[in-house]
Amino acid sequence: PVYQDYFFNETAYDYHDGGYVPLEVYDAPRVPLTIPSILKPDRETDTEVWLTVHAQPGETQILPGAKTKTWGYNQSLLGQTIVFRSGKTYHVTLKNSLPELTTFHWHGLDVPGPFIDGGCHAPIYPGEEKEITFTVNQPAATTWLHAHPCPLTGWDVWHGLAAMVYVEDDHEDSLALPHNYGVDDLPIVLQDRRFHEDNQWDYDADYDPDGTAGPTALINGTVNPNFDVTTQKLRLRFLDGSNRREWRLHLSDDLMMTQIASDGGLLPEPVQMTKCMLTCAERAEFIIDFSGYKAGDQVTLYSDDTPILIFNIKDFVTDETTLPDKLAEISYPDVDPDALVHQVVLAGTDEEITINGLKFGMMRIDDRQEIGKTEYWDITNTNDCCGGMLHPYHMHGGSFQIVSRNGQAPYPNELGYKDTVAVNPGETVRIKMKFNFAGVFMYHCHIIEHEDGGMMAQMQVYTPEEPEKKYDLMAMDTL
Ligand code: C2O
Ligand code: CU
Ligand code: CU
Repeated sequence: PVYQDYFFNETAYDYHDGGYVPLEVYDAPRVPLTIPSILKPDRETDTEVWLTVHAQPGETQILPGAKTKTWGYNQSLLGQTIVFRSGKTYHVTLKNSLPELTTFHWHGLDVPGPFIDGGCHAPIYPGEEKEITFTVNQPAATTWLHAHPCPLTGWDVWHGLAAMVYVEDDHEDSLALPHNYGVDDLPIVLQDRRFHEDNQWDYDADYDPDGTAGPTALINGTVNPNFDVTTQKLRLRFLDGSNRREWRLHLSDDLMMTQIASDGGLLPEPVQMTKCMLTCAERAEFIIDFSGYKAGDQVTLYSDDTPILIFNIKDFVTDETTLPDKLAEISYPDVDPDALVHQVVLAGTDEEITINGLKFGMMRIDDRQEIGKTEYWDITNTNDCCGGMLHPYHMHGGSFQIVSRNGQAPYPNELGYKDTVAVNPGETVRIKMKFNFAGVFMYHCHIIEHEDGGMMAQMQVYTPEEPEKKYDLMAMDTL
């Protein structure tokens, strides 16, 4: 089948929110889509790689006229793309040249918490640098890096602290999929901003406790981008890197998009659709086949009714390859029938948001799970007042499998590994989660202002040897 809907409850879409900021086309010339360069290692052997990730302030020419003051990783805005190979060990120097502390969170990487994971408890102070070491061992996927200082994640990400992080492996390499970075395999970071006087951003002026948004689509940091298509098939790796916005993506002529991967890597099988909704922090990879077009044609990508990216079709060679019908073996260990079912209740809007009736506490451990055991987590969105809103629920510490939505099957494009799942109002999503590393990990709504506003909790993953291990957690008031 070719799915033609967004699956989620329309009454909960972000445009029903009183503070909703619709997208508008900004009056500025069209420019080529920026493709970030790939971060070069400082040094490497066959099995080990040394890299430096540098959070830095800068200025970026986004619009004609004044440059915009921005932050980025190894560049002035967003970041160079980091590519990890499953099986290798990485020594990453985290360097902070910003005027304030930040953290480096590897969203979607399976690494120990709380320091390597880079959530709230892993500050890097201004002028400081620190090396972390971890081994990447997970299927090929599109993950990402973003700042996570609590409660200033929204502020940091709005300034630009977000970068694509790819994991590669031999299996994914062997499939007949586009692999040529920047040519037929593109990172697409979806964000939105409001440009104020002199082309500047003003987070405090635009702040909304239900999620900060702006009217201008910013795609890989570019306003009004075009991309020249020189191959018949194009792979687009979308990341919703917005603080709040949901992206309802579709192409002109209702051109089919074949989804091949989600947060944690390849789907078991490709899923054909003409529409896809992404909520905050989710990733989705699509193959678009332009065989029905010829040089000079244009194909437009929309979110709702606003064009956000134009594909200019150039001459390309006919491509006879067909996508594999099986992409990956997805398996998740069974849950022990006696295991307790973890409960997460997301409630409220604006300043009233809570998780299990509480606001986040930096020093409080809200839940516990043993390393290596698979357990159910039931995530409930009680918030059915006034249509309610979708909460994109995210867990640090690995990937989960979605078991059901209110007892029904998950959506057809949710059958792969996930680390973020949007929960409809009045719905309970059951997931299966296994942790491969010990530590303290956050779990939260990924509308970043909800996370900063307290719709966040933390769990301790413990080993049987050290069930009560104490971590040096950071108290919020040391910020
Ligand atoms: Cu992408 Cu705790 O976040
Ligand atoms: Cu995360
Ligand atoms: Cu939320």
